[in-house]
This record gives sequence, C-alpha cells and structure tokens, in this order.
Amino acid sequence: MFYSAPTTADVREKQSRGMVHIKSKTEIQRMRDAGRLAAEVLSETGLRVKAGVSTLELNDFAHELTLRRGGQSAPLNYRGFPRSICTSVNQVVCHGIPKKGEILKPGDILNIDVTVIYQGYHGDTSRMFYVPPLAEKARQLMEDTERAMWIGIDCVKPDARISEIGDAIDAYLTPRGYGIVRDLTGHGIGRNFHEEPAVPHYARSGARTRMRPGMTFTVEPMVNQGGRHDVVFNKKDGWTVTTKDGSLSAQYEHTCLVTEHGAEILTMLD
Ligand code: MF3
Ligand code: CO
Ligand code: CO
Repeated sequence: MFYSAPTTADVREKQSRGMVHIKSKTEIQRMRDAGRLAAEVLSETGLRVKAGVSTLELNDFAHELTLRRGGQSAPLNYRGFPRSICTSVNQVVCHGIPKKGEILKPGDILNIDVTVIYQGYHGDTSRMFYVPPLAEKARQLMEDTERAMWIGIDCVKPDARISEIGDAIDAYLTPRGYGIVRDLTGHGIGRNFHEEPAVPHYARSGARTRMRPGMTFTVEPMVNQGGRHDVVFNKKDGWTVTTKDGSLSAQYEHTCLVTEHGAEILTMLD
C-alpha cells in the first residue's frame, strides 16, 4: 500500500467544518524536514545581523539559501506579501516587510520570521536578534518572551485544550507588566501555511479544541513592552503591524507536533 497525502482541498474542507487535520507518518516526516530547513535558514540569516546591514539584504540571503536547499519561501506572494521573510524591527510587532532603506543600527532589536515550503509542507519559526549595545529593558523583554513561548509549548500534550497554552503564557507575562497581542495568534500548519486551529496566547480564549497526536501548530507569542496589547495595522503597505503606543515588541516562534507523550519541536536544531 502506498499512502497518498491529503490535498489542500481536503484540508480546506476539514477547516470549514472546524476540524483539525491529523498528520500521517509520511506527512510528519515531511514536516520534520521542512521544520529543520526553516530552522537552518533562520539561524544562518541571523548570523548576518549587524550594524549597517539592510533588512532587504537579510531577505535576499534567506531567499537564496532556501532555494539552494531545495525549498521555497512561503511568505513570497502569500496573499500579496512582497518579500521572502518577515523582519520586524523595534516597535514592529510582526509582518515587517524587508526594505533596502531599512538599515540596522546599534541598539536595534528585530524578529526574523522564516517560513519555508519543502516537499509540500511548511516549517515556520522566528526569533529575536539585536545589534549591540542592547538596552537592559530590551534584553529583559526578549528573555521573557522566549520564556513565555516555552511555557506555552510545555502545555502541548494529548487531551490538553489549545486554550491552556494562552492561560499559561498569560499567567507568566501579565504580572510582569507586558501586553500580549490578541489580534494575531499561532496557527495549525502543514500543507497550508495557516490552518486550524488558531492558537491564542492570552488567557480564557475559549479555544476548546483538544490536542491529539499528529496535530501540528505554532506557538508564537507577540509581547509588547508597555502593558498594552493594542496594535496598529498599516493600511498603506497592508502588512506591517506595530504597537499602538510605540513601545518595543518581541516574538519567538516554533512549529510543534503533538506526540503520544507531549510535544516534538519541529523547528529546532540539535
Ligand atoms: N510567519 C508568519 C506567521 O508566523 C506569517 C507571515 S505571513 C506573511 O504566521 F505573509 F507576512 F509572510
Ligand atoms: Co506562524
Ligand atoms: Co512565522
């Protein structure tokens, strides 16, 4: 017997019925390969972060490397997104568009978000980088955001509800005075860049779906330094999301697989 993977139409059909696609063994192996490639591209692109480099140069490096390794950049032309990665500097929360004229300078912090398509499957991961010298408050924001992502991932196991991720993240961040972005969430991922379920990072979201082995989704909290969760969507470029109060924002993201016992991180290098 040979296995035939579900078509995008199958997944869309499940999505419209509010069901979450459970990946087969073959699909999981492809997700592992895609996740590894995304992690490699993110790590190698991050090595290019320094003062004087433009975010477009980071984009072009990531794009070329992805192609050389046999993958494609998922953001490019996704719902009209014009570049191959997202680069979100300082008060940009997410979906920053790499630009020739955006030159990194000392003290900047930025999120680089890499999503690749490999063997028909997506791997999605992001993390923070910075140009020294790093302000103490910015360092603390990045550290607390990464910790929050791991606290969320620690909730991933069979039978847990998706809402438990946001409950745990919120219990950690809100007492520390941060604002957790509500307008954007983690997401199921596979043959599609974004599929069911949505994964909120705030408490009491009502995301009742129970995790099952073979589900794949991202955990990717966006955290604002001011206590405010409000964000502004740039109407002109259609993409850039910034904090409403101009405060710094940080984000970390991994693609996770629900296993029989807990979580396997698909976008981690050993
Ligand atoms: N990688 C982002 C995420 O984590 C999505 C970017 S959509 C794009 O879901 F079009 F901006 F690339
Ligand atoms: Co994502
Ligand atoms: Co992403």
